[in-house]
Amino acid sequence: MIALGNVSRRFGKLEAVKDLTLEIRQGEIFGLVGPDGAGKTTTLRMLAGLLDPTEGTVRVAGLDVGRNLDVVKDRIGYMAQKFGLYGDLTVEENMLFYSDLFGIEVELRDRLMNEFLQMTRMAPFRTRPAAKLSGGMKQKLALMCTLLHRPQVLFLDEPTNGVDPLSRRDFWEILYRLAKEGMTILVSTAYLDEAERCDRVGLMHKGRLIECDSPDALKSRLAHVCFLAKYEDLREARRRLLAAPGVLEAVPAGAAVHVYLEDDARREDVERATGGVTLRPLQPAMEDVFIALIRREERRAAA
Ligand SMILES: Nc1ncnc2c1ncn2[C@@H]1O[C@H](COP(=O)(O)OP(=O)(O)OP(=O)(O)O)[C@@H](O)[C@H]1O
Ligand SMILES: [Mg+2]
Repeated sequence: MIALGNVSRRFGKLEAVKDLTLEIRQGEIFGLVGPDGAGKTTTLRMLAGLLDPTEGTVRVAGLDVGRNLDVVKDRIGYMAQKFGLYGDLTVEENMLFYSDLFGIEVELRDRLMNEFLQMTRMAPFRTRPAAKLSGGMKQKLALMCTLLHRPQVLFLDEPTNGVDPLSRRDFWEILYRLAKEGMTILVSTAYLDEAERCDRVGLMHKGRLIECDSPDALKSRLAHVCFLAKYEDLREARRRLLAAPGVLEAVPAGAAVHVYLEDDARREDVERATGGVTLRPLQPAMEDVFIALIRREERRAAA
C-alpha cells in the first residue's frame, strides 16, 4: 500500500531525506521514530503529495503520488503535526466543515460522524468548541476529521504529542481497530512505548532509515550489545564505562546504568578496562534499542 523507492529530498544544501526505500503492506501499523529533524515529517509530506521528492518514486495505494494526486488524495488521510482545527467551531461543526471540504454526501456523513463519535467516545462532547477540548480530545477530533472521506491509508505525524498516557492508549485502541478493518497506517512518534505497539518500526536518523523491523526482532538483534551495570557509585561507574574502549553509551536508569557496546566489543574486555564494573545481560526495551542504534550510527558517521 505504501512504497518508497530510493527517495531523497533536498532543501537547498540540506538533504532532509536520503535514499529511502520502504514498503508497507495493507493493514500494517508502521511506526516512524527518530530524533528532531530526522526527516519524519518530510517523508510523510512526500507520501501525502504535499512535497515532491528530489529523487525516487513514491507510490501509495498502487498509484504514483506525483502523477495521480487527484485520485490518491481520496485514498489517503493525512493528519499533520499541527492539524487545523477551528477553535470556535464545535466538535460537530469541525467535522461538518471537513466533510463539506471532501464533498461527502449527507447520509454517509451523518452515519460516519455517529460511528466515529461512538468509536472515540466523543459523543458527549459533540457541541463543545474545539478550543475547549483537552489535548487528547483535540487529537481524536483531528483523527475523526481525517477519517471522514474513508481513506485506505492513514498518515499520522506525531498524533499524540503532548497527550497524557491514558488518552494516548485510547488513541492507539482506535488505531488498532482501524488497522484490523484493513487500513494501512504510517505513524510518526516520539514515544517509544508507542513504537512498541507497531507491527514494524523504522528508525530515522539524519534523513536515513537506519533500521527497520518488528519491535521484537529489533530487540533480539540488539540484545548482545545491551548490558546492565551495577556498582556502588553509579557516577563513577558511568565515568569509567564511557572511557572504556568499545562502549557506545552508558545512561543512568534507576539504581543501575544501561550500557551499550559496539557490535564487536567483548563484555570481558570492557569489564577489565573499567577495573571492576561488572556487566550483566539486559533484556533491551525499545528505548535501549533506540539509543544503541543512534549512538552506533553517530560513531559510524564520525569514523
Ligand atoms: N520546507 C523546508 N525548508 C527547508 N528545510 C526544511 C524544510 N522542511 C524541513 N526542513 C529541514 O529538513 C530536516 C528534516 O525535517 P523534518 O521536519 O522532516 O524532521 P522531523 O523528523 O519531522 O523532526 P521533528 O521530530 O522535529 O518533527 C530538518 O533539518 C529541517 O530543518
Ligand atoms: Mg516532524
